[in-house]
Amino acid sequence: MNESFSTDRDRFSGRFAVIAAAAGSAIGLGNIWRFPYVTGENGGGAFLIIYLFIVFAIGIPVMTSEFVIGRAGQKNPYGSFKNLAPGKPWYLIGLMGVVAAFMILAFYTTVSGWTLEYVYQTLTGNLQGKSDAELTGMFDVFLKGSFRPVLWFLIFMGFTAFIILSGVKNGIERYTKFLMPLLIVLLIALSIRSVTLEGSKAGLQFLFNPDFSKITPKVILEALGQAFFSLSIGMGTLITYGSYIQKNENLGSSALFVCVADTAVAVIAGIAIFPAVFALGGSPASGTGLVFIVLPVIFQKMPFGQLFELLFFILLAVAALTSTISVLEVIVAYLVEELKMTRRKATIAATLMVSVLGIITVLSMGSLSKFLVFGKNIFGLLEYLTSNIMLPIGGFFIVLFIGWFFSPARTKAELTNDGKLKAGYFPVFLFIVKFVAPVAIAMVFLYSLGIFKF
Ligand code: PHE
Repeated sequence: MNESFSTDRDRFSGRFAVIAAAAGSAIGLGNIWRFPYVTGENGGGAFLIIYLFIVFAIGIPVMTSEFVIGRAGQKNPYGSFKNLAPGKPWYLIGLMGVVAAFMILAFYTTVSGWTLEYVYQTLTGNLQGKSDAELTGMFDVFLKGSFRPVLWFLIFMGFTAFIILSGVKNGIERYTKFLMPLLIVLLIALSIRSVTLEGSKAGLQFLFNPDFSKITPKVILEALGQAFFSLSIGMGTLITYGSYIQKNENLGSSALFVCVADTAVAVIAGIAIFPAVFALGGSPASGTGLVFIVLPVIFQKMPFGQLFELLFFILLAVAALTSTISVLEVIVAYLVEELKMTRRKATIAATLMVSVLGIITVLSMGSLSKFLVFGKNIFGLLEYLTSNIMLPIGGFFIVLFIGWFFSPARTKAELTNDGKLKAGYFPVFLFIVKFVAPVAIAMVFLYSLGIFKF
């Protein structure tokens, strides 16, 4: 009796650490910065419905599959595939994940740097008493300047490297445990202020009243990309974290919880942003700067707004940090395990390489903005290639691997912890990873390329 009680307790706290780390990776700028701006550019309500459908039909199975591959393979994404499928080319998926990690870090850390600028601006009182137009102008001026965005980028990259180096991931978990709920509480407070602004109703309608005529192939591809990006799936972050998960933890329920929490935060962020956008007469399709322009305006209209604003941007920076460390960890784990570098060397090498690409990315929002590839600046290009192309391709092969290559018995053993857990969902899961998820991802691709029509 006593013994089973104590194992239950151990299990619970263990599971919490996993969920905290994976949720820390998933919840970040993808939810609070990217979700609102992409939803805004893709028509609102109808996009949201497709997004939700993709999270549940594709996202949860891909995340679960990544956990299975990581915990069974016990290595970085490349090494895990090599372990589970020796002599077969599946490791290429892991390799693509490592490449994607470089690309994501370059633009993600750029935006993380913006959060630091806003922490700084709030601290110095520079945002206080500014008009809506002045606040918009400040963001543009900041972005076009070269020095400060680069500086913040490097500082943020430094924080990320420091945490990976000192291996204080456990410490981070301890903080995220209460900082993330606090961020959510603040987001809810912002939402309340936002929906009580005059003229905000149209914003709620925009988000929750689907206009299906707005659905185009592009909208569906964007929803797919946003889901993968927001859930941190398709590039091996959760394979890497999966390899650190203890053998007695429940992979299926962890994935479910992370996906639900991640989606909830995105929707709350939407409720905080869109009513305010409409109340202030702005356009929901204002692009990457959307939340950095809108949120400071709402804070101006709240009691103790400056205090809330300071807290909010600090917490947003922390949320971004728990995501950047999960991406850098993919590269470092690869360098350490495959190229036999020390953790220190690997971290420094990865940080330097990311920084070179990152500085170019930062400048592509300003002085290099005339340099376009496929009509996109470097920032936009990296964002598009990773979220809309590489992550879905990675996810496609990840479910294919679990559905068709890896033995169902071994998958079941991982999901039930060798029969210790019930996993009544297993047949459904297997059906989804065999058929539903790969077909859905392939269809979205072919549809958006115009090869396939509904
Ligand atoms: N999911 C993170 C976010 O929403 C970003 C991320 C993408 C992290 C891919 C890891 C891998 O902020």
